[in-house]
Amino acid sequence: MRVIFLGPPGAGKGTQAKRAQSAFGIPQLSTGDLLRAAVKEGTALGKQAQGFMNAGKLVPDDLVVALLAERLRQADCRSGFILDGFPRTAGQADALERELKKHGAPIDAVINFAVDAERLVERLVGRRICPNGHGEYHLSFHPPKSPGQCDVCGAALVHRPDDHEDQIRTRMEAYARDTRPLIEFYGKRGVLHTVQADGEIDAVTGEVKAALEAAR
Ligand code: AP5
Repeated sequence: MRVIFLGPPGAGKGTQAKRAQSAFGIPQLSTGDLLRAAVKEGTALGKQAQGFMNAGKLVPDDLVVALLAERLRQADCRSGFILDGFPRTAGQADALERELKKHGAPIDAVINFAVDAERLVERLVGRRICPNGHGEYHLSFHPPKSPGQCDVCGAALVHRPDDHEDQIRTRMEAYARDTRPLIEFYGKRGVLHTVQADGEIDAVTGEVKAALEAAR
């Protein structure tokens, strides 16, 4: 099953993609995670992408498309994948169609995460992340036991550079301008499923699962 998770920043695409990955046995491909890994490793791509990401702007299409195309060629994508945060522009959607056409493997479902904008800001400004991969916290909804420290390893929690209010606003604008039009694009292709994503995480998982079962 080849699936796209589409939605604004903080809509829960990553949270739900991780759960769907386990439930359906297909890998989550997050362009945000791939780009952050490139920045951390200091690759040429990472160096080009970092300024855009820290400002909350989209990384140019050519860089992201090349990164994703390389990831799609890996063996674990043969039986399907969940694209988390890609495509985000019409150019990326066209490039994806061209790439998948080569393999005769079209997209089966696009899950559109609908969430109230104010809730998104609240989720993102309070997010803190363990730098050693022990998960995420939220200052109000899921605070660590000791302020600023990971419960598992004690490392100082990280506030993502793009999770500050100005950058969040820029990300929201990029979504409205460049990504939201893809709802119509995939609607016309008959693969769009909209889920109401401002409820509890488990409730959203139920809706996503039902939409994916229907698509399968
Ligand atoms: P990326 O990392 O993809 O960030 P994003 O999509 O902007 O936002 P998030 O990943 O923060 O949101 P999400 O929807 O995955 O929500 P999550 O599950 O994390 O991209 C970062 C940057 O990389 C971009 O700005 C751009 O610069 C670049 N980039 C990436 N892809 C690109 C592309 N294709 N083209 C160009 N540039 C690209 O949840 C958020 C928080 O909310 C978490 O704390 C979570 O615990 C919480 N939460 C989730 N669901 C719920 C719920 N139901 N109730 C309460 N809290 C919830």
